[in-house]
Amino acid sequence: MKQVQMTKLPVYSFETAEAINQLRVNLSFTDQDCRAVVVTSSLPDEGKSFVSVALWRALSEVGKKTLLIDCDLRLSKLMERYGIIAETPLIGVSHVLSGQNDWQDAVYETDVINGCIMPVTSIVTNPSILLESRRLGRMIEEAKKQFDLILIDTPPIISVADALTVCKNADASIMTVRSGKTKKSVVKDCIKRLQMTGKPVLGVVLNRVDTGNHHYGYYYYGYRNNPYISEEKK
Ligand SMILES: Nc1ncnc2c1ncn2[C@@H]1O[C@H](COP(=O)(O)OP(=O)(O)OP(=O)(O)O)[C@@H](O)[C@H]1O
Ligand SMILES: [Mg+2]
Repeated sequence: MKQVQMTKLPVYSFETAEAINQLRVNLSFTDQDCRAVVVTSSLPDEGKSFVSVALWRALSEVGKKTLLIDCDLRLSKLMERYGIIAETPLIGVSHVLSGQNDWQDAVYETDVINGCIMPVTSIVTNPSILLESRRLGRMIEEAKKQFDLILIDTPPIISVADALTVCKNADASIMTVRSGKTKKSVVKDCIKRLQMTGKPVLGVVLNRVDTGNHHYGYYYYGYRNNPYISEEKK
């Protein structure tokens, strides 16, 4: 398999590493069939990409063969943010979805043992059409045969339908919510939209919590059995 280097992988604070580890453990309690999990949120900047990458690393580091698929075909920042470099021009998700390449051609091993990525390598003019292609579902199903877990980073739900389209083709989703910023009504509306895809929302990650010492924290709420967005608050 081809390789990329991730030259800017961050070192997480103790609190962040702990919270992500908790999220990883919670994920392991879910149904065995939930192996392709979408990470999404209502609005931009809620930490979808941050949580996707941190969780992907945590899963890989405990020996799970994990694939991170970047499905933010509009504004992906992963290549730049994590300093992803390779010796040859990269084939990415849009090459696969447009039928130019097989899905395996866009999968790269990384510096993270057990962790592979499928990056966005080019800007496309028609992301929605690409994501609506049957190739997306096929690609995820094929990848599930070779990976223990697949995490899929997406754009925010409020502005475009992309995340919901991806969710339909995955097994489940996790919502990130920016603490102190995103309105509860917006979160609830987006959870309803996610549920309309027929796939379970596994939980909500309350992200970017100001813990007072400049560390951002996370709290994870199992959506089904946690009072965070309970029936009486709906
Ligand atoms: N828990 C966290 N700890 C530290 N920094 C964070 C955390 N969550 C997010 N950030 C930072 O906040 C910014 C926005 O996060 P990120 O890009 O992951 O959001 P996003 O929801 O993926 O945004 P977009 O909708 O544009 O894709 C980034 O600079 C990221 O590094
Ligand atoms: Mg993002």
